[in-house]
Amino acid sequence: MTAVLACPHCALPLQLTDVVASCAGGHSFDRARGGYFNLLVGGRLGPTVTPGDTPDALAARRRFLGAGHYAPVAVALAEAVGAPDGPLLDVGCGEGYYLSQLSVAERFGLDVSKAAVQMASRLLPAVQFVVGSAYRLPVLPDSVAVVTSVFAPHPFDEFSRVLRPGGRWVAVTPGPLHLRELRPPLQGESERKDAERLARRAAAPPEAAWSRREQFQLVLTADALTDLFHMTPIRWQSGSAPVVAAAAASGATSVTVDVWLSASSAP
Ligand SMILES: C[S@@+](CC[C@H](N)C(=O)[O-])C[C@H]1O[C@@H](n2cnc3c(N)ncnc32)[C@H](O)[C@@H]1O
Ligand SMILES: [Zn+2]
Repeated sequence: MTAVLACPHCALPLQLTDVVASCAGGHSFDRARGGYFNLLVGGRLGPTVTPGDTPDALAARRRFLGAGHYAPVAVALAEAVGAPDGPLLDVGCGEGYYLSQLSVAERFGLDVSKAAVQMASRLLPAVQFVVGSAYRLPVLPDSVAVVTSVFAPHPFDEFSRVLRPGGRWVAVTPGPLHLRELRPPLQGESERKDAERLARRAAAPPEAAWSRREQFQLVLTADALTDLFHMTPIRWQSGSAPVVAAAAASGATSVTVDVWLSASSAP
C-alpha cells in the first residue's frame, strides 16, 4: 500500500500495522477496534465544527442514501473520478456511502466525526478510515491521486498539497435550487444571508477548472423526507421543521436535487 497518512504531530510518514500507526519521530496511534485511526490532535478544529453528525443524523443519512435516492449523484461522481492510478481520499466521508460507490482499489476516508468514521469502517472494512480535520489533513504531500469532497468542507489549497502531480480534486456542492422545497421562509438578516449563499451557488466553486450541473426530482415518502431533513444542514434553520412536517403530511413529495460537480481538471 502506498504511504499516504502522515503523523499529525510531526508530519512524518506513518507506518501502518494491524495494531498501530507510528512515525519515525516516536509518535504512535492505536488502531481502533473498527480498523480506523484517530489522528485528530488537540486544538485542531475551529469553533464551527458542523453539528450535523449526531448518531441520529448519521442513521438518517445511512437509511436515505442506502435507499439509493442520491444514486445519480454517486454515478456522476464516479464518472468525474474516472479510473485513478493511485489512492483516493474522500474528505468528510460521513458514513461511507460515496466511497462504497467508487470502485477504486486504494481508498481512504476522513471525517472529523468519530461516530461517522465508526459507521463507515463497519460498512467498508477494506477502506482505511481516519478521524481528522479537512483543514489540516494528516496526509503526506504529493501522495494521493484523487481527493473527493461531497457536501463536505473543501479547502482546495489543502487538497492541492496532498495531491500528486497530475492528481485532481472532485467536489460535489449544492446548486441554487438544491432542496428548495425544504427551505423555510426567512426574514431580515437571515433572508439576506441566505440570498447571498444562494447567489454564490449559482456557479461552481471559482477554483474549479471543470464543472457540470446535475439536477433531478425525487419523489419521497414522508419517512424518506424526514430522513433527508435530518441529514442536511437545513434542519438547523429555524422554521424548517414545520415546513418539512407539512410537506410530509401532504403525502408523497417532490424535492429538487441540484448539485455542482466540479474538479481541478477535466475528467
Ligand atoms: C453533510 S455531511 C456529508 C457526508 C458525506 N460526504 C455524504 O455526503 O453523505 C458533511 C460531513 O463533513 C464532516 N465534516 C465537517 N467538518 C469537517 C472538518 N473540519 N473536517 C473533516 N470533516 C468534516 C461532517 O462530520 C460530515 O460527516
Ligand atoms: Zn510523529
